[in-house]
Amino acid sequence: MNDKQRVAEYAANQIADGMLVGLGTGSTANYFIEALARRMQEENLKISTVSSSVVSAIKADSHGLPLVGIDQVERLDVYVDGADEVDSELNLLKGKGSDLVREKLLAHNSHAFWVLIDQSKRVERLASKSPVPVEVMPFAWRLVLSSIEAIGGRGGLRLNSAGDGIAVTAHGSLVLDISFDTATDISLLNKTLSSIPGVVEHGIFHRLATEVFCGVEGEIQRQTPDK
Ligand code: A5P
Repeated sequence: MNDKQRVAEYAANQIADGMLVGLGTGSTANYFIEALARRMQEENLKISTVSSSVVSAIKADSHGLPLVGIDQVERLDVYVDGADEVDSELNLLKGKGSDLVREKLLAHNSHAFWVLIDQSKRVERLASKSPVPVEVMPFAWRLVLSSIEAIGGRGGLRLNSAGDGIAVTAHGSLVLDISFDTATDISLLNKTLSSIPGVVEHGIFHRLATEVFCGVEGEIQRQTPDK
Protein backbone atom coordinates (compact mmCIF):
# COMPACT_ATOMS: atom_id res chain seq x y z
CA MET A 1 0.00 0.00 0.00
CA ASN A 2 1.45 3.42 -0.96
CA ASP A 3 1.07 6.66 1.03
CA LYS A 4 -1.81 7.92 -1.15
CA GLN A 5 -3.75 4.69 -0.55
CA ARG A 6 -2.99 4.75 3.14
CA VAL A 7 -4.12 8.35 3.59
CA ALA A 8 -7.29 7.62 1.61
CA GLU A 9 -8.11 4.60 3.81
CA TYR A 10 -7.47 6.72 6.90
CA ALA A 11 -9.80 9.51 5.71
CA ALA A 12 -12.53 7.03 4.78
CA ASN A 13 -12.40 5.75 8.35
CA GLN A 14 -13.17 9.27 9.64
CA ILE A 15 -16.50 9.46 7.78
CA ALA A 16 -19.50 9.21 10.12
CA ASP A 17 -22.87 7.57 9.52
CA GLY A 18 -25.37 9.90 7.83
CA MET A 19 -22.83 12.23 6.23
CA LEU A 20 -23.15 13.87 2.82
CA VAL A 21 -19.65 13.47 1.37
CA GLY A 22 -18.13 15.29 -1.61
CA LEU A 23 -15.87 13.15 -3.80
CA GLY A 24 -12.80 14.70 -5.40
CA THR A 25 -11.06 13.77 -8.63
CA GLY A 26 -7.69 12.11 -9.22
CA SER A 27 -5.81 9.01 -8.14
CA THR A 28 -5.98 9.78 -4.39
CA ALA A 29 -9.69 10.59 -4.59
CA ASN A 30 -10.15 7.26 -6.41
CA TYR A 31 -8.52 5.40 -3.52
CA PHE A 32 -10.83 7.28 -1.15
CA ILE A 33 -13.92 6.33 -3.18
CA GLU A 34 -12.91 2.65 -3.07
CA ALA A 35 -12.20 2.73 0.67
CA LEU A 36 -15.43 4.58 1.45
CA ALA A 37 -17.53 2.15 -0.60
CA ARG A 38 -15.90 -0.80 1.18
CA ARG A 39 -16.58 0.75 4.58
CA MET A 40 -20.18 1.57 3.68
CA GLN A 41 -20.81 -2.05 2.72
CA GLU A 42 -18.96 -3.60 5.66
CA GLU A 43 -20.52 -1.33 8.29
CA ASN A 44 -23.85 -0.67 6.56
CA LEU A 45 -23.26 3.10 6.71
CA LYS A 46 -26.02 5.39 5.46
CA ILE A 47 -24.11 8.00 3.50
CA SER A 48 -24.70 10.03 0.35
CA THR A 49 -22.09 11.38 -2.02
CA VAL A 50 -21.74 14.25 -4.50
CA SER A 51 -19.08 13.99 -7.18
CA SER A 52 -16.76 16.69 -8.50
CA SER A 53 -16.49 15.13 -11.98
CA VAL A 54 -18.02 12.63 -14.36
CA VAL A 55 -15.02 10.36 -13.77
CA SER A 56 -15.61 10.32 -9.99
CA ALA A 57 -19.35 9.85 -10.46
CA ILE A 58 -18.77 6.77 -12.63
CA LYS A 59 -16.23 5.41 -10.16
CA ALA A 60 -18.57 5.99 -7.18
CA ASP A 61 -21.53 4.48 -8.98
CA SER A 62 -19.57 1.40 -10.02
CA HIS A 63 -18.65 0.85 -6.35
CA GLY A 64 -22.27 1.23 -5.19
CA LEU A 65 -22.00 4.63 -3.49
CA PRO A 66 -25.33 6.54 -3.48
CA LEU A 67 -24.91 9.71 -5.56
CA VAL A 68 -26.82 12.99 -5.30
CA GLY A 69 -26.66 15.64 -8.06
CA ILE A 70 -24.59 18.72 -7.29
CA ASP A 71 -27.65 20.85 -8.05
CA GLN A 72 -29.65 18.99 -5.38
CA VAL A 73 -27.55 19.90 -2.34
CA GLU A 74 -27.28 23.03 -0.20
CA ARG A 75 -24.30 22.13 1.98
CA LEU A 76 -22.02 19.13 2.40
CA ASP A 77 -20.62 17.69 5.61
CA VAL A 78 -17.21 17.09 4.12
CA TYR A 79 -15.44 17.36 0.77
CA VAL A 80 -12.45 15.03 0.30
CA ASP A 81 -9.94 15.54 -2.49
CA GLY A 82 -6.28 15.46 -3.44
CA ALA A 83 -4.20 18.46 -4.53
CA ASP A 84 -1.35 19.23 -6.89
CA GLU A 85 0.54 21.45 -4.40
CA VAL A 86 0.09 22.35 -0.72
CA ASP A 87 1.98 25.17 1.01
CA SER A 88 2.76 25.58 4.72
CA GLU A 89 -0.43 27.66 5.26
CA LEU A 90 -2.45 24.85 3.63
CA ASN A 91 -3.29 26.84 0.53
CA LEU A 92 -3.62 24.54 -2.46
CA LEU A 93 -2.97 24.46 -6.16
CA LYS A 94 -5.49 22.28 -8.00
CA GLY A 95 -6.84 21.74 -11.46
CA LYS A 96 -4.22 19.61 -13.18
CA GLY A 97 -7.28 17.60 -14.17
CA SER A 98 -9.96 19.78 -15.71
CA ASP A 99 -12.56 19.77 -12.95
CA LEU A 100 -11.58 22.67 -10.75
CA VAL A 101 -14.91 24.52 -11.04
CA ARG A 102 -16.86 21.75 -9.33
CA GLU A 103 -13.95 21.01 -7.00
CA LYS A 104 -13.83 24.57 -5.68
CA LEU A 105 -17.62 24.80 -5.50
CA LEU A 106 -17.80 21.69 -3.33
CA ALA A 107 -14.80 22.69 -1.21
CA HIS A 108 -16.32 26.11 -0.56
CA ASN A 109 -19.73 24.74 0.36
CA SER A 110 -18.65 22.00 2.76
CA HIS A 111 -18.50 22.15 6.53
CA ALA A 112 -15.05 20.50 6.27
CA PHE A 113 -12.58 20.13 3.40
CA TRP A 114 -10.05 17.33 3.89
CA VAL A 115 -7.08 17.29 1.55
CA LEU A 116 -5.31 13.98 1.03
CA ILE A 117 -1.67 14.08 -0.08
CA ASP A 118 1.68 12.39 0.13
CA GLN A 119 4.87 14.33 0.80
CA SER A 120 5.55 14.95 -2.89
CA LYS A 121 2.73 17.57 -2.86
CA ARG A 122 4.33 19.79 -0.22
CA VAL A 123 5.88 23.00 -1.55
CA GLU A 124 7.52 26.00 0.03
CA ARG A 125 5.81 28.40 -2.38
CA LEU A 126 2.59 27.64 -4.22
CA ALA A 127 2.82 27.63 -8.03
CA SER A 128 6.60 27.41 -7.92
CA LYS A 129 6.66 23.94 -9.51
CA SER A 130 3.45 23.93 -11.56
CA PRO A 131 1.57 26.60 -13.51
CA VAL A 132 -1.72 27.98 -12.18
CA PRO A 133 -4.67 26.60 -14.19
CA VAL A 134 -7.11 29.36 -15.15
CA GLU A 135 -10.39 28.20 -16.65
CA VAL A 136 -11.81 30.74 -19.11
CA MET A 137 -14.87 31.28 -21.26
CA PRO A 138 -13.75 30.06 -24.73
CA PHE A 139 -14.37 33.38 -26.49
CA ALA A 140 -12.52 35.30 -23.75
CA TRP A 141 -9.20 33.47 -23.73
CA ARG A 142 -7.09 36.04 -25.61
CA LEU A 143 -8.47 38.95 -23.59
CA VAL A 144 -7.96 37.07 -20.32
CA LEU A 145 -4.43 36.09 -21.37
CA SER A 146 -3.51 39.71 -22.03
CA SER A 147 -4.95 40.76 -18.65
CA ILE A 148 -2.85 38.05 -17.02
CA GLU A 149 0.28 39.04 -18.96
CA ALA A 150 -0.24 42.60 -17.69
CA ILE A 151 0.19 41.32 -14.12
CA GLY A 152 3.29 39.27 -15.00
CA GLY A 153 1.85 35.87 -15.87
CA ARG A 154 3.19 33.85 -18.81
CA GLY A 155 1.59 30.86 -20.49
CA GLY A 156 -1.04 29.72 -22.95
CA LEU A 157 -3.85 27.37 -23.71
CA ARG A 158 -3.66 23.85 -22.34
CA LEU A 159 -3.52 21.12 -24.97
CA ASN A 160 -5.52 17.90 -24.79
CA SER A 161 -3.80 14.76 -23.51
CA ALA A 162 -2.98 13.61 -27.08
CA GLY A 163 -1.34 16.99 -27.70
CA ASP A 164 -3.09 17.37 -31.02
CA GLY A 165 -5.75 19.89 -30.00
CA ILE A 166 -6.90 22.27 -27.28
CA ALA A 167 -8.20 20.87 -23.98
CA VAL A 168 -11.87 21.56 -23.32
CA THR A 169 -13.26 21.13 -19.79
CA ALA A 170 -16.45 19.34 -18.76
CA HIS A 171 -18.20 22.74 -18.92
CA GLY A 172 -16.92 23.60 -22.38
CA SER A 173 -14.35 26.09 -21.07
CA LEU A 174 -10.69 26.39 -22.08
CA VAL A 175 -7.75 26.33 -19.65
CA LEU A 176 -4.79 28.70 -19.56
CA ASP A 177 -1.78 27.26 -17.69
CA ILE A 178 0.05 30.28 -16.32
CA SER A 179 3.43 30.60 -14.64
CA PHE A 180 4.12 33.49 -12.29
CA ASP A 181 7.26 34.85 -10.74
CA THR A 182 8.05 32.85 -7.60
CA ALA A 183 7.82 36.02 -5.48
CA THR A 184 4.13 36.48 -6.35
CA ASP A 185 1.86 36.97 -3.34
CA ILE A 186 -0.64 34.06 -3.47
CA SER A 187 -3.37 35.80 -1.51
CA LEU A 188 -3.25 38.78 -3.87
CA LEU A 189 -3.02 36.56 -6.95
CA ASN A 190 -6.07 34.61 -5.78
CA LYS A 191 -8.13 37.81 -5.62
CA THR A 192 -6.72 39.32 -8.81
CA LEU A 193 -7.39 36.23 -10.95
CA SER A 194 -10.95 35.97 -9.60
CA SER A 195 -11.60 39.58 -10.57
CA ILE A 196 -10.63 39.26 -14.27
CA PRO A 197 -13.76 39.21 -16.48
CA GLY A 198 -13.93 36.02 -18.56
CA VAL A 199 -12.26 33.88 -15.88
CA VAL A 200 -14.59 31.05 -14.85
CA GLU A 201 -12.39 29.79 -12.01
CA HIS A 202 -8.72 29.24 -11.18
CA GLY A 203 -6.66 26.65 -9.36
CA ILE A 204 -5.59 28.57 -6.26
CA PHE A 205 -7.59 27.25 -3.30
CA HIS A 206 -6.84 29.97 -0.77
CA ARG A 207 -7.71 29.16 2.85
CA LEU A 208 -10.31 26.56 1.89
CA ALA A 209 -8.74 23.42 3.39
CA THR A 210 -9.86 22.73 6.95
CA GLU A 211 -7.43 19.82 7.36
CA VAL A 212 -4.60 18.19 5.41
CA PHE A 213 -3.91 14.47 5.84
CA CYS A 214 -0.43 13.64 4.62
CA GLY A 215 0.93 10.13 4.18
CA VAL A 216 4.58 10.04 5.21
CA GLU A 217 6.36 6.70 4.92
CA GLY A 218 3.52 4.71 6.37
CA GLU A 219 2.39 7.29 8.94
CA ILE A 220 -0.46 9.82 8.69
CA GLN A 221 0.28 13.42 9.64
CA ARG A 222 -2.75 15.67 10.23
CA GLN A 223 -2.49 19.43 10.00
CA THR A 224 -5.06 22.20 10.43
CA PRO A 225 -4.47 25.81 9.34
CA ASP A 226 -3.16 28.31 11.88
CA LYS A 227 -5.93 30.65 12.96
C1 A5P B 1 -7.91 17.44 -10.16
O1 A5P B 1 -8.35 18.49 -10.94
C2 A5P B 1 -6.79 17.88 -9.28
O2 A5P B 1 -7.11 19.03 -8.59
C3 A5P B 1 -6.40 16.72 -8.35
O3 A5P B 1 -6.97 16.88 -7.10
C4 A5P B 1 -4.96 16.61 -8.30
O4 A5P B 1 -4.42 16.53 -9.60
C5 A5P B 1 -4.49 15.44 -7.43
O5 A5P B 1 -4.37 14.27 -8.16
P1 A5P B 1 -3.70 12.96 -7.58
O6 A5P B 1 -4.51 12.55 -6.38
O7 A5P B 1 -3.83 11.98 -8.72
O8 A5P B 1 -2.28 13.23 -7.23
